[in-house]
Amino acid sequence: MLKKITAVMIPLLFSIVLVFVGTFLGCIKTGGKTVPEEKEKIVVGFSQLGAESDWRSSNTESMKEALSSKNGYSLIFEDGQQKQANQITAIRMFIQQEVDYIVLAPVTETGWDTVLQEAKNAGIPVIIVDRMVDVEDEDLFTCWVGSDFELEGKKVVEWLNRYVTLKNVPAKDIHIVNIQGNLGASAQLGRTKALADAVEKYGWDLLAEVPGDFTQAKAREVMDGLLGVYDNINVVYCENDNEAFGAIEAIEAAGKKVGMDIANGEIMVVSFDGVNQEALDYVSENKIACIAECNPLHGPRVQAIIELLEAGKMPDKFAYVQEKLLASDTTVTQVVVDGVNYEVTFLESTKTATEAAEKVTE
Ligand code: AHR
Repeated sequence: MLKKITAVMIPLLFSIVLVFVGTFLGCIKTGGKTVPEEKEKIVVGFSQLGAESDWRSSNTESMKEALSSKNGYSLIFEDGQQKQANQITAIRMFIQQEVDYIVLAPVTETGWDTVLQEAKNAGIPVIIVDRMVDVEDEDLFTCWVGSDFELEGKKVVEWLNRYVTLKNVPAKDIHIVNIQGNLGASAQLGRTKALADAVEKYGWDLLAEVPGDFTQAKAREVMDGLLGVYDNINVVYCENDNEAFGAIEAIEAAGKKVGMDIANGEIMVVSFDGVNQEALDYVSENKIACIAECNPLHGPRVQAIIELLEAGKMPDKFAYVQEKLLASDTTVTQVVVDGVNYEVTFLESTKTATEAAEKVTE
């Protein structure tokens, strides 16, 4: 009996010791193979503001891809559905879960002081991505990465000014409506400000500013309404491409033409993002006259920030992404904003919107 027990126990004890020593050294021997010990994952809570646009879908995908399990992360993703209250609840949940990092894409700029103070008290670094937060104390977050939304707006309005000047359209004949993003978001604030400043500077006629919430459906509804009120709209400044899609639908449904010949009754649409192929095709067809690029691929940028912090280094407090200005009409080749030249990136043109539409129906 003793012999039997010994025969079973000795190999068992030997295996336990092997596993223990292997684990201690960072390796486990299984079936003759030595595999590295599983490294502990970095736990990140990401509060995304919603899913309102193609830009946002791309951004979410980029974040999920970069902060993936294969890259050593355990990502807790929360969709705020456009509500700041939901985002605040998500951050509080991340604090309770004792995540290693909190990443926040804030829906609007203000109202974050209290919850970010709570994260700071819990010793959790907060990385802000895409839009900004407007807080009393900037030490409430570790760093921010995103776009310069006002610069994007300035590029578009300078492009418009150059275009109408070269086409000899007087400033007083530029009748603009602005379909804004959701109010209080950095992307709305920056882009709206750039337009307001240009209206003041160049003497354009700004007929109306109405929020379109960065969505196609809302912009279509808003544009329908605006066309019913104003019969002289010749420029539509859409604060993202999804709004441009909605505005174009409304213009065409009203029997009007989208295009660049505003002296002859066409309605010009300008926009922001340049993320999906449909928007780029619209630029090629001159249905969208120009787009200031807004780059959504922040995942690898946030990953690089976390890697720096893990290595005990401090990232830049504010990191702005470089972005292009897209058009297919070659009238304007560059714009100057605050003394800096920005070349226009030309997409291959399929001529006028009318010709493009004819091409499609051929
Ligand atoms: O904050 C970035 C903006 O938000 C993008 O321009 C827009 O498409 C998105 O919804």
